[in-house]
Amino acid sequence: MAKLSVVGIGPGSPDYVTPAARKSVRGAELVVGAERSLSLMKSEIRGVEATLTARNMNELLELAVAAAEEGKEVAILSTGDPGFSGLLRPVARHAQGRRVDLCVIPGISSIQACAARLCMSWEDAGLFSLHRGAPPEKWSELARTIKEGRDIIVLPDQKASSPREIVRFLLSQGLDRRTPVFVCESITLRGERIVGSTLENASELDFDPLCVVVVKGTGSREGS
Ligand SMILES: C[S@@+](CC[C@H](N)C(=O)[O-])C[C@H]1O[C@@H](n2cnc3c(N)ncnc32)[C@H](O)[C@@H]1O
Repeated sequence: MAKLSVVGIGPGSPDYVTPAARKSVRGAELVVGAERSLSLMKSEIRGVEATLTARNMNELLELAVAAAEEGKEVAILSTGDPGFSGLLRPVARHAQGRRVDLCVIPGISSIQACAARLCMSWEDAGLFSLHRGAPPEKWSELARTIKEGRDIIVLPDQKASSPREIVRFLLSQGLDRRTPVFVCESITLRGERIVGSTLENASELDFDPLCVVVVKGTGSREGS
């Protein structure tokens, strides 16, 4: 049975790609990934490349699983770590019940890279991905977590949940407008920017769509 590897390739800079990820990609006969991911791993790719898009996702993952079943070594590139809002979930769904040896090469998540930029310990933080389709309970949990005194680290979505929408939602939940917010844009990439603000000020700002939002868990209700 050949390996179907879901390979975490980090937040974007080649400096943050692990040797294990490079080795796995070098050994793959088929490498599947988004254009940006394939370009990052270009120097390691020896096999056939297939470009993943939102449109061909199901079709291409199916093809990748079938190739692994036929005995080909396959690597599927996932930005950051595959297990947090990455490709592991859809790949595992396709691989379920199939004759493939599914394995995961961990990558440095944008969450880890963001916490590192802010010199922040994150073992007690609430971690959220607010991509399209996130249920209302997830949004409520954001506010609840901060009110409990815990920091939150959020992966926003330009269309479904921009940083501005997130901070406005938190203000609407009665959080103190002076609550500290940090937005880490394009981490490890050219144009990286770390913006420190407050809920009130951040609610008027625009940010790069590629960003991670941190809100400090000190946001008790104003006046209380
Ligand atoms: C589909 S999720 C993938 C997350 C990925 N699995 C991880 O562990 O970082 C994409 C989101 O990750 C965040 N992201 C990924 N790379 C980033 C970077 N270099 N700088 C800032 N945010 C990043 C953004 O919030 C983006 O919308």
